Amino acid sequence: MEGEKDNNTSLPSLTKQLASSTLGGSADVPILDLSVSDEDFLVREVTKASEEWGVFQVVNHGIPTELMQQLRMAGKQFFELPEAEKETVAKDEDFEGFKRNYLGGINNWDEHLFHRLSPPSILNYKYWPKNPPQYREVTEEYTKHMKRLTEKILGWLSEGLGLPRETFTQRIGGETAEYVLRINFYPPTQNTDLTIGAAAHTDMGAIALLIPNEVPGLQAFKDEQWLDLNYVNSAVVVIIGDQLMRMTNGRFKNVLHRAKTDHERLRISWPVFVAPRADMSVGPLPELTGDDNPPKFETLIYNDYIDQKIKGWALEDLPVY
Ligand code: SIN
Ligand code: FE2
Repeated sequence: MEGEKDNNTSLPSLTKQLASSTLGGSADVPILDLSVSDEDFLVREVTKASEEWGVFQVVNHGIPTELMQQLRMAGKQFFELPEAEKETVAKDEDFEGFKRNYLGGINNWDEHLFHRLSPPSILNYKYWPKNPPQYREVTEEYTKHMKRLTEKILGWLSEGLGLPRETFTQRIGGETAEYVLRINFYPPTQNTDLTIGAAAHTDMGAIALLIPNEVPGLQAFKDEQWLDLNYVNSAVVVIIGDQLMRMTNGRFKNVLHRAKTDHERLRISWPVFVAPRADMSVGPLPELTGDDNPPKFETLIYNDYIDQKIKGWALEDLPVY
């Protein structure tokens, strides 16, 4: 397929996606305990997990469990509001806002709310629910923790590749990097094999930090099979996206993942996507490439990368998956 070189998402064929059903294998994604005091150990483990898996869970990450519960509660309360009230923050011209997205089949089956969290200068509070009333305060507090944890992980990943600690944070814009929350709301479905919640994809940003509710459903594609992510209570799931894969010239894995629906239970997830500022040029880092490792990917303005990826996702193109 044209342009495949740059995407390197190695999507399994449509046939394989459907034939594999939603039954997942059980190899466990790495779980990293951030309370260990040996930083060198963390640097090695986080780097290894990003190279081999592109997804891992972190525990003892310093985000209060109570705050995570408050975030979950606020999101759930919003989605349980009458439709008319949810429509008050409906998506219009941009990507932010509330949207019902019940496409079905191999496409998404969800409703979701998207809004930016940072930097403060580009926030659109009109997309932040007014109800429940604590939504804004809880989300702002959670944002501070997301930034701190993301920068810590990006620091370890930089060091793991022999680069100064601030490298990846700087290459996505430092304080101007974009943090975006998406709350995914997946009602139960009759046939979970035919109705996928979030279709197979790689994340287009640099990295995402996700927490789910108590209902499992996230799957990662590794070694030619779908594996269930066995979520550990209070963990944060870390997902490596396209830009870290591209900056490392393919060394980190932009993991292909999807989310199942459940027969009986409502599933909700809260990914926070961390992406380069829209006008940043992103490509393989010169420090990580050379004659023995020439750049495999084009350097692109991040906004142009988004346009290209979204075009590739046009519905008529789906069968190339
Ligand atoms: C996503 O990757 O967009 C959603 C994953 C999930 O719901 O767990
Ligand atoms: Fe994702």
